Amino acid sequence: MIIILMYICICNAITEKTVIEAVNNGASTLGDLQAELGVASCCGCCAQTASEYLPQGSAATSAVKQEYVSECHGRKAVVSTVLWPA
Ligand code: FES
Repeated sequence: MIIILMYICICNAITEKTVIEAVNNGASTLGDLQAELGVASCCGCCAQTASEYLPQGSAATSAVKQEYVSECHGRKAVVSTVLWPA
């Protein structure tokens, strides 16, 4: 099984899945994500991307997430893609 993780915050190894879970559990501001996960607490490069996952962010309102199962030589992988509007 291959697991593909998309990192939002490289400095703190915080994945997209972790950010989405935090937002689903009530985080509604970048400050909430910083306090709960440590996002944007080092270099700050991830602040804009993390903010897009907040309730008013573009990831919450515009992105389309597609997932499919790829199979090769008996091994399966779930491939996850986020499509952003042009
Ligand atoms: S990438 Fe998130 S603080 Fe540096």
